[in-house]
Amino acid sequence: MGGTAEYILSKYKEIEIIAETGKSKIFLVKDNVSGHLLVKKQLPLDSDTTVYKKLSAKDIKGLPRVHFVVSDDRYNYVFEDYISGSNLMNMLGNEKSFTPKQVIEWALMLCDVLDALHGYDPQIIHRDIKPSNIIISDDGILKLIDFDIAREYKADAGADTAYIGTKKYASPEQYGFSQTDCRSDIFSVGILMAELLTGNTPNHNQDLNPYGALGKIIKKCIEVDPKQRFQNVGELQLALRKVNRPFYNRAVVKVRIVTFICATIGIF
Ligand SMILES: Nc1ncnc2c1ncn2[C@@H]1O[C@H](COP(=O)(O)OP(=O)(O)O)[C@@H](O)[C@H]1O
Ligand SMILES: [Mg+2]
Repeated sequence: MGGTAEYILSKYKEIEIIAETGKSKIFLVKDNVSGHLLVKKQLPLDSDTTVYKKLSAKDIKGLPRVHFVVSDDRYNYVFEDYISGSNLMNMLGNEKSFTPKQVIEWALMLCDVLDALHGYDPQIIHRDIKPSNIIISDDGILKLIDFDIAREYKADAGADTAYIGTKKYASPEQYGFSQTDCRSDIFSVGILMAELLTGNTPNHNQDLNPYGALGKIIKKCIEVDPKQRFQNVGELQLALRKVNRPFYNRAVVKVRIVTFICATIGIF
């Protein structure tokens, strides 16, 4: 183990285990001197930490800041900001579903983060967007976590090795048909929106028609052929903003009519 890794690992005391899965262990850790809290994610030594290193020390509003990526002779460790809040999987478990307005608000925040990631050269594709990988902080900010299977887009590569983040949310191309790109994340955002809205992940029989324009947006996100989806998150954001606009316009028109009538009959 290098001196830096040894120093960092000894500097942060494990306070509690936040989560533990087959592949990783998430600790809440505390700086012995300053008392500052961080999260330490322990990953297998053969895990690919390229994207975590790339994100290291970058300030992106919708991501916990990655402070260090170090290894000892047993594990890789990612140290990142601790986000006080709740992940969307637990929130969905409590609430069962969310309003279209709430879903659009979160989807727009998620699009902002993805826009930043997809804007890197080469693009960073998250590939595992799902409720448990999204935390809503106590002050309402959406944070995208878990870059374990994120990858950088390689322009000259053919099909990806199959990297199915999580079956329900993975785009068809993640099964190894072709290379994943930003449209694979758009597919998962569609599944996520459907799940938050209905409480279920969509299947072919699910009727998204009652959700009007938002339902249409979701259907476009989850098209099997990436060419039929939104081609980048900018396009998706534009469509989502339009869904909100008619309500706004209607409200503005109503206020203007009332003001006009009041002015005409001399109330003001
Ligand atoms: N930076 C963080 N701040 C607060 N909680 C976190 C953080 N990172 C992970 N968690 C919690 O731990 C859970 C698992 O973390 P995640 O990175 O998704 O691990 P895994 O790769 O095992 O899925 C998350 O769903 C979240 O509740
Ligand atoms: Mg996860």
